[in-house]
Amino acid sequence: MIKNIKLASFRCFDEANFNFSDNINFFYGVNGSGKTSLLESIFLCGNAKSFKTSKSDSLIKAGCDLFNIEATLSGSNKVISIAKSSKNRIKVKLNNSIASAKQLMECLPIISVDSKMFFLATNSPEYRRKVLDKTLFLLSKDYQFNWFSYHKSLRQRNACLRDGSFQQAKSHNPLITKYGELLNNIRSMFIENLHTTFRSLVKINYESPFFSLLNELDIKLFSGYESSNDVFNLDQCFDDDCSRRTTTKGPHKADIVLSLDGVAVSEIFSRGEEKIFSIVFGLALAKTLIENDQPCITLIDDISSEIDNKRLTNLIRIIELFDGQLFFSNISDVFNSTIEHDNLIKKFHMEQFN
Ligand SMILES: Nc1ncnc2c1ncn2[C@@H]1O[C@H](COP(=O)(O)OP(=O)(O)OP(=O)(O)O)[C@@H](O)[C@H]1O
Ligand SMILES: [Mg+2]
Repeated sequence: MIKNIKLASFRCFDEANFNFSDNINFFYGVNGSGKTSLLESIFLCGNAKSFKTSKSDSLIKAGCDLFNIEATLSGSNKVISIAKSSKNRIKVKLNNSIASAKQLMECLPIISVDSKMFFLATNSPEYRRKVLDKTLFLLSKDYQFNWFSYHKSLRQRNACLRDGSFQQAKSHNPLITKYGELLNNIRSMFIENLHTTFRSLVKINYESPFFSLLNELDIKLFSGYESSNDVFNLDQCFDDDCSRRTTTKGPHKADIVLSLDGVAVSEIFSRGEEKIFSIVFGLALAKTLIENDQPCITLIDDISSEIDNKRLTNLIRIIELFDGQLFFSNISDVFNSTIEHDNLIKKFHMEQFN
């Protein structure tokens, strides 16, 4: 969890200092008041890269030479610092020693519900697979190992197929199959878990017709290979792979299948409905990690755009009952003033900070 963050010359901020709640942190203010920038600074502390831009120079406040972010974690009191000057790459430190992005991910695991995630259902299978993989990377070192081993063998097999060395390509089948099945097992268990958690969040709004519909939604894993007996067999697609010169089936083609009565939800949901679904899905990802003893923080940017008041109230009800540390933003205040000083919910009026 993050206890405090200090920003210097970061985006619109000169110098700013934020003390956070271990539970809910809410940033509100007009367009351009720095809500996304603050969430971005938190994201950087767990990922060493921005969720918004690959051009990290644009993160430095206009007219300044460098930015600095310093986050203190609660419990361990570890300090993550991120600095970037216009001439150099991003510098990442953990307790004053140079650190890797992987170390940051371990210290500060983050589930981010950003503008891309809002279109989870209509986005590509590759995007959904990335969301799943990234979450499982946070959860399990075994998964990381299996993932890298699988992709290493897959790259080698694909190189052979490209060169026309078909017999050599076959020699990679046993390892790909072994690690592929391990990946698939962890993924299917997680998706089952996630579906149960998703339903538990949706049920908080049992009286809402839309949330009742979400309760009926199917969340399933497509393994990336069709198989009647659930066995990953690369021999079955060997001829196809040779003619297409790549491995056509396997966990690298997996997807999260989202459907209602057998129809893909991407065909059904309106934009606002898809966004509500995606936010609950993101919260379910985080809750599943937390329930599996992997603490994480959750970021949600710009919660209410495209969402009507009634359904926003439903979402806020889920957020208020959420157990982990959560940071979310909106243009206007979504909480009434009576809870302003509640220890669990901390509100930040962003216009004050820059
Ligand atoms: N490198 C920079 N230097 C100075 N200002 C910047 C820099 N990058 C972005 N800004 C400005 O920072 C302000 C805050 O941007 P941010 O995206 O955080 O606002 P926001 O509160 O999320 O707004 P919205 O409600 O429109 O999403 C904007 O006015 C933006 O133009
Ligand atoms: Mg914004």
